[in-house]
Amino acid sequence: MSLAFASPAQPLSLDEYWMPFTANRWFKKNPRMIERAEGVRYFTTKGDALFDFASGLWCTNAGHCHPKIVEAVQKQAATLDYSMAFTLGHPTAFRLATRLTDFSPDPLNKIFFTNSGSEAADTALKIALAWHRMRGDAGRTHLIGREKGYHGAGFGGTSVGGLGNNRRLYSMLLPGVDHLPHTHDLDHMAFSRGQPQWGGHLADALERRIALHGGESVAAVIVEPVAGSAGVIVPPVGYLQRLRELCTKHGILLIFDEVITGFGRLGENFAAQRFDVVPDMICCAKGITSGMIPMGAVLIREDIYDAFMQGPENAVELTHGYTYSGHPIAAAAALATLDVYEEEGLFENARALEPHFEARIHALRDKAPLTDIRNIGLMGALDLEPDPAGAGLRAIGVFERAWEAGVVVRMTGDTIALCPPLITKADELDAMFDGLECALAGI
Ligand SMILES: Cc1ncc(COP(=O)(O)O)c(C=O)c1O
Repeated sequence: MSLAFASPAQPLSLDEYWMPFTANRWFKKNPRMIERAEGVRYFTTKGDALFDFASGLWCTNAGHCHPKIVEAVQKQAATLDYSMAFTLGHPTAFRLATRLTDFSPDPLNKIFFTNSGSEAADTALKIALAWHRMRGDAGRTHLIGREKGYHGAGFGGTSVGGLGNNRRLYSMLLPGVDHLPHTHDLDHMAFSRGQPQWGGHLADALERRIALHGGESVAAVIVEPVAGSAGVIVPPVGYLQRLRELCTKHGILLIFDEVITGFGRLGENFAAQRFDVVPDMICCAKGITSGMIPMGAVLIREDIYDAFMQGPENAVELTHGYTYSGHPIAAAAALATLDVYEEEGLFENARALEPHFEARIHALRDKAPLTDIRNIGLMGALDLEPDPAGAGLRAIGVFERAWEAGVVVRMTGDTIALCPPLITKADELDAMFDGLECALAGI
């Protein structure tokens, strides 16, 4: 399919690009192209303005093209584009690592840089396995994820991930992986506001997994504190605390995948602080640079790092890393992003806007055939009753009509997820919800 676009900003053809996690044929029939963005808005190649009610893909927490982050990137690109990530250092990555420890809960004060959330998840899993082995506990090889979890697209993340559609195509994932049951139970928690009161005991399923495999064989449990990609599944009160207790009791490392929940999405630096549960490692990405440049990180308990710092000083302690770990331009973007979060009080803004977000999302209950609405912080989701003609069709219709109404939302299956940038003002949030309401009215 060649398209005779006039402007050089337009694609030459839609044929060659195999788009990620996208229905390629659906997209290419009616391509929706974004040309530029600013603040909470996208501008299409046709010149239309749309509200970004998805924060890019859960990442542009400081809004699009923030001038301070743009400037930091431009300056860094003109100063040091790249330097060897293995065996050489550059000050910006070290400054960022130090700065991140102001955001992380103690004692998670060691930082390993990656380029994405997927790499952060795989890195945390590898560190967990290696740490047990370093300490002479090499029998701890089992990894436990959770149904409906998403930990990226690498083999490690896909293996501990619990979204059936993401796993089914790939016949050979990691061995020694088990999954906790998910916590979404419509009988007990449909239309909950914030954390469901019911379900803390569901964490006890970990005891059963431990009884099955033997506590001494489990290396790590990895969960998203709030499952994002599955459609904002909020942890029941007490659930994460119980997971923490059980992991501590059995010597298992607890990893929080905070790729979505990190950097203010829940009005705190991390969900760990919001829920007052400190894991042994946190995976983050996305909001670390507000989506400006790919970057991820794992925040690691100090003594885990210390355990590796032995043996000959000239020996590499962890044979792991990426060419672009701590990339200068990404690190500069992240430093500027952290400044913006603090200077503009964006996490406080998220906290202040949360009650309004909650009121508006739950007011949608009678506007469409819905089976559930969930929310916490500035993230929420609606489950549409599936169209008898086919799963996912209703959400596509809502997505398309929302686009026509000037709002971009995220759809997966029959779920519509909402995630406004943290800079969003109350009237802009109202306009986003008004657009979505129009889209729902078309069902
Ligand atoms: C919880 C979680 N982990 C990992 C990832 C993967 O991140 P990336 O797409 O940057 O590899 C995502 C992406 O949405 C995520 O939500």
